[in-house]
Amino acid sequence: MKVLATRRYPGPAFDELDDVEVLALSELTALRPDVEALVVANEPPPLDLLPDLRLVANFGVGYDRLGVEGLRRRGIAVANTPGVLDAATADLTFALILATRRRVVEGDQRVRAREWVGSWADSFLAEELTGSTLGVVGLGRIGQAVARRAQGFELRVLYAQRHRVETTLGEYRELDDLLAAADIVTIHVPLTAETRALIDRRRLALLKDGSCFVNTARGEIVEEPALVDELVSGRIRAGLDVFAHEPHVPDALLGLTNVVLTPHLGSATRQAREAMTRIVVDNIRALERGEPLVSPV
Ligand code: 8YV
Repeated sequence: MKVLATRRYPGPAFDELDDVEVLALSELTALRPDVEALVVANEPPPLDLLPDLRLVANFGVGYDRLGVEGLRRRGIAVANTPGVLDAATADLTFALILATRRRVVEGDQRVRAREWVGSWADSFLAEELTGSTLGVVGLGRIGQAVARRAQGFELRVLYAQRHRVETTLGEYRELDDLLAAADIVTIHVPLTAETRALIDRRRLALLKDGSCFVNTARGEIVEEPALVDELVSGRIRAGLDVFAHEPHVPDALLGLTNVVLTPHLGSATRQAREAMTRIVVDNIRALERGEPLVSPV
């Protein structure tokens, strides 16, 4: 089966594809009736050029840019890579929480600028993490992995999501109440029509003074200009791995010491990325054999 992949995806599983062509979507300009499976990283497939496409295998758990409804209407199956990136993403969430809260990047910059004078960093105090309240927005697989890690830091965990669930991982709150009560808020919902700009200007204003806002989900879940305004004012702190128009990061954030910025690194561990490729390949194999997909969307 002819597979088109928008890059060479990491890990040995990719080599198991015996008829794969690596081609960026920007270079796909001619009609390709030979292609039956397409591997993308949340990139919209050019369906007009792929008339016989049967599967879009997404390298990633989030598939908000694929146009799933349109694919379904054309009878094209869709698969994603759930589960294997939960730990990597939850770990990065904690890296951002700790870096933001304990001023790690600011401290690093001071050292490099030779601004560290005296035997200890006078007037460089941060707020302690232990004992504070973490608000998890979206208690799915990644949100749960974050909540489990929070126990080790002795955090009180609140969670908000569409449906209240029976869990020992945290106490349920309505979203507005969670935003007003938490010292740290972390976003773990998928981007959908319902969650686009979920955290808008009004909701950002509910955050406590000095609280810390972390996003490793999707930039579009937050009203980015309103977040930038809050950060420029210095009222809150943030750790941001995702942005509304990646790879663009708003200029106003670049000089701020109350923000830690990373380039969409959530799943960027060797183990997670190789496991994601494994799932992509397993889905293609399943289609080839006429078996059910291993992780259909
Ligand atoms: C990216 C992600 O997909 O899984 C997701 O939803 O955002 C990431 O894993 C990955 O970086 C490839 O684009």
